[in-house]
Amino acid sequence: MDPRPPETLGRYRLLSEAPVPGSSKTYRAEDPFLGREVLLKALEAGSAPAERAARFRQEMRLAARLSHPGLFRVLDAGEDGDWLWFAMERLEGRTLRAEMDERKRLPLARALGVLVGILLPLDYLHASQVVHRDVKPENVLLVPCRLEPEGRPVLLDLGIAKDRSDAGRTITRHGERALGSEYYAAPEALADAARATFASDVYSTGVLLYEMLAGRLPVGSNFPALDDCVPDAPCWIQMLFETMHASDERARFAKAGDVLAALREQVSPEAWHATARSGSSPHDPPRSAREWEAARAPGSGRGKTPFWLAWLPGRGRAP
Ligand SMILES: Nc1ncnc2c1ncn2[C@@H]1O[C@H](COP(=O)(O)OP(=O)(O)O)[C@@H](O)[C@H]1O
Ligand SMILES: [Mg+2]
Repeated sequence: MDPRPPETLGRYRLLSEAPVPGSSKTYRAEDPFLGREVLLKALEAGSAPAERAARFRQEMRLAARLSHPGLFRVLDAGEDGDWLWFAMERLEGRTLRAEMDERKRLPLARALGVLVGILLPLDYLHASQVVHRDVKPENVLLVPCRLEPEGRPVLLDLGIAKDRSDAGRTITRHGERALGSEYYAAPEALADAARATFASDVYSTGVLLYEMLAGRLPVGSNFPALDDCVPDAPCWIQMLFETMHASDERARFAKAGDVLAALREQVSPEAWHATARSGSSPHDPPRSAREWEAARAPGSGRGKTPFWLAWLPGRGRAP
């Protein structure tokens, strides 16, 4: 069977292969009807195991039913000969992996901003009874926008997500080893992918937090505490990480919303300035669009309060 993709899938004209490795392929494509570019994720189901095709169908249906600013949007889907495909809104940006490769370590405020930006869609998934199971830097796209020129996080890839509201149809066999990346998978998910819970996603996000701050993975028995590798570490950061990364699920935050709530407790604007030993005076976060603009202006003196504080639950509305 010819493994090359056809020139069109549905009405979409394939433009080029997106230069990223992965199991099912993503392609840039043009929608001639609407005159815009989309990203197609496609699987040649004819030569893939039936289980792989079933998982792909689940990914597209799940993604189509979900809607959150921190998730990608499905626009269309179909079957074309041997090919199964779905079209997504094509986001401009680079992955968190690319950002970490370039910067090695992210500054504290940026790392926490990315963390919150990942926890928000993850909290939405958990509230929708979905376990993502593949949180890792390759599956986070950073999309530059006005408020976050460095990129707001969008969580990608529901390829191995587990829909707990649809237990009968979720495609995971007991005893199957981790489906995601072994460096990010929680111990219970590594032993048996079917056992992955919301807390397993929290664990993976904890690995990611550590990696953003320390520039290395928290592996081996003697990886350094975050206080020792982050110069301006607030006193609570190591505890936050440990509670996300606990091997025992019962000692871990149970879901993304619990991590957001813990952050809210720790990171009031006042506490931010008091504990992040960066030494600026406390002040309130901006409350209106005009204030956001003023805060962003160079030399305004306000730019040091991270904008994402306003996104923590109970502090305001996420944009
Ligand atoms: N909506 C999107 N817009 C832009 N790039 C995307 C989008 N979705 C995926 N990508 C890019 O394609 C890569 C692979 O997509 P992903 O859904 O993670 O598939 P895979 O199952 O192959 O890992 C991502 O790492 C990202 O670089
Ligand atoms: Mg992926």
